[in-house]
Amino acid sequence: MNGIVIASANGAIGLEAAVDILRHGGSALDAVIAGARLVEANPEDHTVGYSGLPNLFGEVELDASVMDGRGLRAGSVGALKGYQDAADLARHVMDELPHVLIAGEGAKRLAAEIGMEPRDLLTPEAKAIWQERLDQPATAPNGHQTYLRKVREIVREAATDPEAARGEEIPHGTVNFIARDRTGDIACAVSTSGWAWKYPGRMGDSPVIGAGNYADNRWGAAACTGRGEMAQRCCTAHSVVTFMRFGMSLDEALTTAMTDLAHLDDPYKSEMNIVALDKEGNPGAASSSKDKTYVVMTEEMPAPEERPRLHVPIPGVG
Ligand code: GLY
Repeated sequence: MNGIVIASANGAIGLEAAVDILRHGGSALDAVIAGARLVEANPEDHTVGYSGLPNLFGEVELDASVMDGRGLRAGSVGALKGYQDAADLARHVMDELPHVLIAGEGAKRLAAEIGMEPRDLLTPEAKAIWQERLDQPATAPNGHQTYLRKVREIVREAATDPEAARGEEIPHGTVNFIARDRTGDIACAVSTSGWAWKYPGRMGDSPVIGAGNYADNRWGAAACTGRGEMAQRCCTAHSVVTFMRFGMSLDEALTTAMTDLAHLDDPYKSEMNIVALDKEGNPGAASSSKDKTYVVMTEEMPAPEERPRLHVPIPGVG
């Protein structure tokens, strides 16, 4: 049985490195971390790792998680500042601590303890995109309250129209990697800088096991991009895996999980996307937006292949 790796479209940059690990007999877990690392290091991607867009006070805060489908082991970090390799750090949480989720100062402390290199994650380009949306500086002469009103307005806009808010054409918005290795083990990694202009300390679905990331060798795996609060409330990644467990095909499971999101009472309802792998290693993906893609590469393929996602509209979401 040969291995396969799938990713959200912005993961294309890391797919070959991930598959290469499988080709050398490496594990699904090593493969997804290797893929995520390259996206986290990519200065062109303003939604993951280094060069991610900052929170409303101009600080880059990263969220990431990893799940090992062999025994449902999981680790995650949230609101991590000053270190780029968030998915790898999540793996250290999983492997070395008796915990699943470590946030803020604790995550930073762990990164330092294991010898990770600190880095200023805010690039001039990301800062310029962030600053452009703030008509008033944080130290507005008319006071802090005015600034807070303004940034709340921006957060609201960013939540309802993330693409416009980010002002980008490139594929973006959190990265998902799912791999199945030669032994049939499945692993999933998710990494993000989260919503730009988010309230400090806000964590989305990416570090929440069951919301943005879930992997179980027995049934498959799923991971999400998009408005994390929706996946948090519907436990979307876990739902996809559970629907497969109870007999749905991969496409039925994806469609049902997307349809569930439509029932949310959410004034900020916006785009959601899922990638998934069934237990046999068949890939699939869905999006509430038309013409969205994901990327797939097996050990036999010479290069990643971009494939269309199922389009499952969510009423009220453009
Ligand atoms: N899905 C990523 C986030 O909401 O932060």
